[in-house]
Amino acid sequence: MSKSIVVIDGHPDPDPARFCHALAAAYCEGAQAAGHRVALLTLARIAIDPVRTRADWEDGVPGPAVRDCQHAVGAADHLVIIYPLWLGSMPALLKAFFEQVFRPGFAIKHDRMQRRPGLLQGKSARIVVTMGMPGFVYRWFFRAHSLKNLKRNILAFSGIGPIRTTLVGNIEGRSATNRAHLIETMHALGRVAK
Ligand SMILES: Cc1cc2nc3c(=O)[nH]c(=O)nc-3n(C[C@H](O)[C@H](O)[C@H](O)COP(=O)(O)O)c2cc1C
Repeated sequence: MSKSIVVIDGHPDPDPARFCHALAAAYCEGAQAAGHRVALLTLARIAIDPVRTRADWEDGVPGPAVRDCQHAVGAADHLVIIYPLWLGSMPALLKAFFEQVFRPGFAIKHDRMQRRPGLLQGKSARIVVTMGMPGFVYRWFFRAHSLKNLKRNILAFSGIGPIRTTLVGNIEGRSATNRAHLIETMHALGRVAK
């Protein structure tokens, strides 16, 4: 069944040499080749500021760039979020994206104390994280704490599920052959929209 997918490329650096961009492009190509509809949000090219006040977060009127992102997320059956691990977490630009886009009234109910506050139910997600350390070190020694925060406090809280993850560790140490294999893996994930 054909799906609507939004790929959120969360790398702040627009340099095409960044591997996250290649992973995002491969996922998009695979998905399009299989007949899925794909919207690509390249955050490095979108003007996003962090939210500064609770009043803005709860009742502010987002600008056109944020509204376009909300439209893309709202229209999607499946979200793919790709980012490099920076200082143990997602880059600040991606965090600003979630603050701006996943506002009350869009991603969660204004009354967040309800049992099911999420407004994005029915959508699935995949998170892809690249990092300098080996993936198993992040998962087992650091307990993947920032990944769990994204999964639980942002995506699952918004009603999104299931949420799958791909960790790409030791990124700088990988051979060209190994990188090509990762690109093919992302292409295959795009084809099955998972
Ligand atoms: C500002 C910055 C902070 C980083 N912090 C971490 C970190 O905490 N842990 C880690 O394993 N790698 C860290 N790295 C390495 C990046 O995760 C790695 O270079 C990136 O995933 C490579 O993907 P790219 O080619 O798309 O940039 C950091 C890199 C930068 C530039």
